[in-house]
Amino acid sequence: MTSVTATPCTSFFTRHEFAIRRLHSLTGIVPLGAYMVVHLTTNASLLNGTATFQRAVYAIHSLGALLPIVEWGLIFAPLLFHAIIGVWIARTGRSNTSHYTYANNRRYKWQRITGLIAFVYLMMHVWHLHGWVHFSHWVELGERYGFAQFRPYNAASTMAAAMASWFWKAFYLIGMWACVYHFANGLWTAGITWGAWISAAAQQRASKVCTAIGLVLLVVGTSAWWGAISTDPVAAKLIEDQMYEANLKAGVVPPSVEKRTQPDPVLGEAAPAVAGEAEASVAPASE
Ligand code: HEM
Ligand code: HEM
Repeated sequence: MTSVTATPCTSFFTRHEFAIRRLHSLTGIVPLGAYMVVHLTTNASLLNGTATFQRAVYAIHSLGALLPIVEWGLIFAPLLFHAIIGVWIARTGRSNTSHYTYANNRRYKWQRITGLIAFVYLMMHVWHLHGWVHFSHWVELGERYGFAQFRPYNAASTMAAAMASWFWKAFYLIGMWACVYHFANGLWTAGITWGAWISAAAQQRASKVCTAIGLVLLVVGTSAWWGAISTDPVAAKLIEDQMYEANLKAGVVPPSVEKRTQPDPVLGEAAPAVAGEAEASVAPASE
């Protein structure tokens, strides 16, 4: 005889809600929060000059073939997990407040709003500068349709050129601020999730520390943004191409097929086809 006392129809999420929420919280701090701190600091190094930023990007890209594995394992996969669960939580309005002695509903609401802004921002940001996947002709397509604009050997110049319009400038500023708020406030709510600060007094102390972290990150992130929008792409490209040629001669970077064969995002279709001729076409005004 078949039983009619069926088990309640529960979704996968509902059955594993506790573990999923903990994993969601953890991924927000490590690796995502940690990555954002390093990422914004690296980008802010542009304020020290094109060469400083370029050296940092070469150091990251020296991972070579390991880079996509590190990117997918430590950034994209946790980001997609956190984003999908986060959008689900924000849209269904599932409340965590039963775990909290949550006095501040506004902060809780803004955590969700900034999460949704971060979602739009990060999906477009990665698409715009990096591209989500790489396959042959990707760079060519990106050049034609305005995505995957970043070139590691022309770091500051391609970033600045990609952010040249007022739309992208405003988009990056709002998106980055939303991410910073989301992370700093998220550190505080995560402390509640994990039971690190339970009493009202402990929560108040933690709130001050998280606000301070948020303010420092706000300055670092805004410096990164300012570095990107105040860079002159053509002047930066000159320095980067000299560094590329020197590194190529020293054998510390592999020759870039893409650099030789694809139109240049800074100079456009008129770019010389072969690296090394670039300097000639952007000769300094003094010559
Ligand atoms: C990509 C889009 C993102 C979405 C849609 C999103 C969404 C959310 C939501 C809705 C929450 C609240 C969860 C709850 O109510 O229990 C949350 C928490 C959190 N998020 Fe995100 N988030 C995103 C990206 C990020 C990023 C990039 C970081 C790090 C820089 C981050 C760090 C955190 C932290 C630390 C928490 C607190 C976890 C807790 O309270 O236990 N999030 N996120
Ligand atoms: C002023 C703000 C920002 C600027 C100028 C900026 C710049 C860049 C650049 C140039 C890249 C391409 C790197 C490459 O392809 O090697 C990149 C990639 C990326 N950015 Fe940002 N970024 C900013 C804010 C953020 C924020 C707030 C987050 C949040 C976590 C973020 C997450 C990412 C991710 C996930 C990637 C792709 C991963 C990778 O390329 O390794 N960015 N960003």
